[in-house]
Amino acid sequence: MKMPIIEIQNLTKDYEVGFWRKRKVRALDGLSLEVEQGQIFGFLGANGAGKTTTLKLLMRLIFPTSGAARILGHDISDVSMHARIGYLPENPYFYDYLTAREFLDYCGKLFGGNRNHRARTEELLTRVNLDKKSWNRQLRKFSKGMLQRVGLAQSLVNDPEIVFLDEPMSGLDPVGRREVRDLIGSLREEGKTVFMCSHILSDIEVLCDSVAILKGGRAAHAGSLGDLRARETSAIEVIASDTDAESLKANLSISAEVSTTPSGLRIQVADEKEVDAVIAALRKANGKLVSVQPVRQSLEELFM
Ligand SMILES: Nc1ncnc2c1ncn2[C@@H]1O[C@H](COP(=O)(O)OP(=O)(O)O)[C@@H](O)[C@H]1O
Ligand SMILES: [Mg+2]
Repeated sequence: MKMPIIEIQNLTKDYEVGFWRKRKVRALDGLSLEVEQGQIFGFLGANGAGKTTTLKLLMRLIFPTSGAARILGHDISDVSMHARIGYLPENPYFYDYLTAREFLDYCGKLFGGNRNHRARTEELLTRVNLDKKSWNRQLRKFSKGMLQRVGLAQSLVNDPEIVFLDEPMSGLDPVGRREVRDLIGSLREEGKTVFMCSHILSDIEVLCDSVAILKGGRAAHAGSLGDLRARETSAIEVIASDTDAESLKANLSISAEVSTTPSGLRIQVADEKEVDAVIAALRKANGKLVSVQPVRQSLEELFM
């Protein structure tokens, strides 16, 4: 059995907002999840769902209202484990007047030792495909995409066992997204664990072994991508004509979603047994059956 390398138990975070009249806003509401070693874990959620809050809690930049979490077997309050993890913040703040090379040398030195970090810096800048011409330029002259690459390089400086990435593809053009995707894939090949947040489904879909979908501070779905996909074909759509939603509903023995569409009445049910109930109701309401077909409830809909 594989050991979870990240364990989150009932993590809750309230922010205090307002100046004169303070009130609390719950950003994270009893989140529990586990991530196994060697996985690329996708933490998916719309803006404001609580992804960044979760990462900041795990990185000990903010403190939980309640709940606990462990990384590499250490409680998150034990920051000694930070030497073995890497972190790319959502809006990284860099030292504007350092060059890319100086900044990475500096990050390397933070992790100790007096050795020359030059070779490591060059290896990382090459790995994140930062144009060689920019290595000796000040970060304040960098575009968002270039800074994102420097941020990624920074997160790998200590050869971490787990990398936490907050929206790693943000600010990148399609070519850049592709490169970063390949980079993250190569981290898995090296046996590293990646915990990445994104509000973009396609970024998660192509990369991740397992995912959790966060909604309003709670995990709405969690599991392998395969499990989530298996839910995709669970619904069946019946199209009917010659009747209206009210008369159909009046005769329906089950509860079903009924909507009016240009092609007729659309009734969505969960399985084939429920289709029989719809057809029976349709007969009683003097309606006509137009079609019955399974609908692919895409991951996109599940996410929304
Ligand atoms: N420092 C803060 N003070 C007050 N509210 C905050 C703070 N940071 C985040 N929030 C609120 O917490 C919720 C979750 O935010 P966040 O974790 O940034 O979500 P995500 O990264 O998924 O977009 C949002 O409603 C946001 O407005
Ligand atoms: Mg965020």
